[in-house]
Amino acid sequence: MKSAVSIIFFLVVGLLTAILFGFRSELWTTEKPYDELQEGMKERIVIKFSHVVAENTPKGLAAEKFVQTVKEKTNDRVEVQVFPNGILYSDNNEFEALQRGDVQMIAPAFSKLSNISSQYLIFDLPYAFPDQVSIHEAFDGPIGEILFHSIEKQNVKQLAFWSNGFKQMSSDKQPLLTPKDFKGHTFRIMSSKAIESQMNLLGAKSVVMPFTEVYGNIKSGIVNAQENTFSNIYTKQLYQVQSHVTISNHAYLGYAVLVNEDFWNSLEPELRDQIEEAMLETSYWNRVKAIAMNDQQQKLLEEKTNISIYELTPEQKEEWVRTLQPVYDQFHSIIGDELMGMIKKNHNE
Ligand code: LMR
Repeated sequence: MKSAVSIIFFLVVGLLTAILFGFRSELWTTEKPYDELQEGMKERIVIKFSHVVAENTPKGLAAEKFVQTVKEKTNDRVEVQVFPNGILYSDNNEFEALQRGDVQMIAPAFSKLSNISSQYLIFDLPYAFPDQVSIHEAFDGPIGEILFHSIEKQNVKQLAFWSNGFKQMSSDKQPLLTPKDFKGHTFRIMSSKAIESQMNLLGAKSVVMPFTEVYGNIKSGIVNAQENTFSNIYTKQLYQVQSHVTISNHAYLGYAVLVNEDFWNSLEPELRDQIEEAMLETSYWNRVKAIAMNDQQQKLLEEKTNISIYELTPEQKEEWVRTLQPVYDQFHSIIGDELMGMIKKNHNE
């Protein structure tokens, strides 16, 4: 009797042990308990972001803001590394570097993208956009949508528009107040056929060159004039090599923020959403910041440098508008009826 009780006791204990350990080992194999080491093994994703301007510019600061916002939104899973001032790639080779995936993000000026998608020339048409409101409407509306699509099929994807500001004309020779003042100037320009045509109409010569070479090439006399925003003129210290700036606001300098498409598609959908959220926040921040920075850097130029700044009279501006009008006919068919129709209302106002 006693031995029967012991046998039953051992059988019950054995069974309970088997159930307990069997069950737990199943837990171990299906649901891994939280463990920090396991968490740390999740792949850290690095986005290399290359651009050509200084850090204290609208694009430079937006890139830094994006670094922080991505870090927060992705819980530190994605690290954006920014390479400013063309230290990795310059205007000549950054697009190809992006296509190859050597960097994952760039933010070139619209003019520089016009060789890939000629529809970006819309922003180079003189006085096509009269103010910031019309620029933001373009970014957020059908113009922006067309431009987003126009860059597809290049293994790049556009994530946003970023702002800098309206461009001004500068010279080391004399004030540029009427079209005849442009004679005898050689302008550094971005690679855009519409800007080239604009300079021809004004009677100036032009040379395309990367932004990183502008200062040196003005200094050595290869060019003696250029067009850019107050922010770029100030932060690149172009006031040291240019003596006159005209507030012409003749065209807008903005950026298409691009990501390598293969890289983008390789990300988990959740991470893509988080990066897009970060991009949206950064882009709205950049809009406000860009306006403030250009105002502030214009003031710094006025107060802290010897450069002379001129405003155009309404009559002088009218003469610029008239002289540059042929650019519209020259580029209408290249840009296309649809986009050209969309900026018409800006002109009739
Ligand atoms: C320029 O080349 O003048 C500008 O596009 C530089 C920039 O990216 O703002």
